[in-house]
Amino acid sequence: MKLNHASTEMDCFILLLAFLTAICAGFKVSVPAGPLVAVRGQPVLLGCEFTPYSTPDLSSLVVTWQRVEDSRIIHSFYYERNQLDLQSSDYRNRTTILVSELRKGNATLRIDPVGPRDAGGYLCTVSNEKGTDKGQVRLEYGAFYTEPRLSVNMNGSTVTLLYEAEGFPKPEVGWFGEDGEVLGHHTELTDDADGPGGTVGLYYLKSSHVSQSSSLNVTFTLKNQLLDQNLLKPVNITYGRQSHVCGANATILIVLSVLCVLLILCVIVLLIKIRRTSCRRSLMLTNGAASRMNGHEMLRR
Ligand SMILES: *[C@@H]1O[C@H](CO)[C@@H](O)[C@H](O)[C@H]1NC(C)=O
Ligand SMILES: *[C@@H]1O[C@H](CO)[C@@H](O)[C@H](O)[C@H]1NC(C)=O
Ligand SMILES: *[C@@H]1O[C@H](CO)[C@@H](O)[C@H](O)[C@H]1NC(C)=O
Ligand SMILES: *[C@@H]1O[C@H](CO)[C@@H](O)[C@H](O)[C@H]1NC(C)=O
Ligand SMILES: *[C@@H]1O[C@H](CO)[C@@H](O)[C@H](O)[C@H]1NC(C)=O
Repeated sequence: MKLNHASTEMDCFILLLAFLTAICAGFKVSVPAGPLVAVRGQPVLLGCEFTPYSTPDLSSLVVTWQRVEDSRIIHSFYYERNQLDLQSSDYRNRTTILVSELRKGNATLRIDPVGPRDAGGYLCTVSNEKGTDKGQVRLEYGAFYTEPRLSVNMNGSTVTLLYEAEGFPKPEVGWFGEDGEVLGHHTELTDDADGPGGTVGLYYLKSSHVSQSSSLNVTFTLKNQLLDQNLLKPVNITYGRQSHVCGANATILIVLSVLCVLLILCVIVLLIKIRRTSCRRSLMLTNGAASRMNGHEMLRR
């Protein structure tokens, strides 16, 4: 009993000593406080700085970057070199730690390019002769929404405006009228299964607004809050008999039709000419029937 007590005291003492040593030596790892945002296809830097050993000597330095969720090894450095034998295959060829920066106490990890599965927690553990410490970084994943593609479908007196775009995560979508009034819409987000964004890491957005009006002046808005992306698409469509736009279209249509007819006529005339010349050539080559056909030719003229 007494012995146990003593050993607990001893443990406490050692722990305290280790703690004090760490404090005195001032060994510390610091990482960014808030979550970092990684953009699909772009590089991201996961910051991790530590108190460097006084000389630019890396012999005692051990750096390990791991995923918090499953302890997968992302990148390691020891024995004075990058060690990638135990690296998770998900990160192969995508990670860098600069040795020149390690000498300055900078174990920042670069991941390039970022993919949808990179979102999550990262643990940076550093130790050298001064001590050991660790820090956690959170990474969020986003993809800028592509330029929305508009398609207009008119059916009788109904106009359907449809915008399509891809990005991540879920956006805020709105349709607004001329005076900023909120309009009804139907919006769908789909992904290719396997969790949010699927394996591709994108949502496919389809947002449509249906109107009976013959003059449309509406605005489609899309907001990707994570990436601070705001898209604003004004749509201005007028149709019907009284419309100038349609009038202009009709004129173009008539001009095009006339041109088409002219073109077809030209082609027909050309074809006739070609047939006649080839007829004449075959006449020159054949002997027996020549005079008879020549007669025909004369008659036609
Ligand atoms: C990593 O790059 C090497 C050559 O640079 C290549 O042979 C290897 O296939 C790549 N691995 C992956 C998983 O892309
Ligand atoms: C740490 O290294 C990265 C490159 O790996 C660099 O971009 C960053 O500026 C460095 N940080 C400091 C504080 O020097
Ligand atoms: C047009 O609307 C009618 C009824 O409103 C519907 O039956 C038809 O399928 C629609 N056509 C197209 C091309 O959407
Ligand atoms: C369309 O609405 C915007 C305001 O949302 C206004 O500034 C613009 O003048 C309108 N255009 C037409 C043709 O009415
Ligand atoms: C919208 O359309 C109307 C009529 O077609 C036109 O006068 C106006 O300039 C257009 N406005 C914009 C912002 O395109």
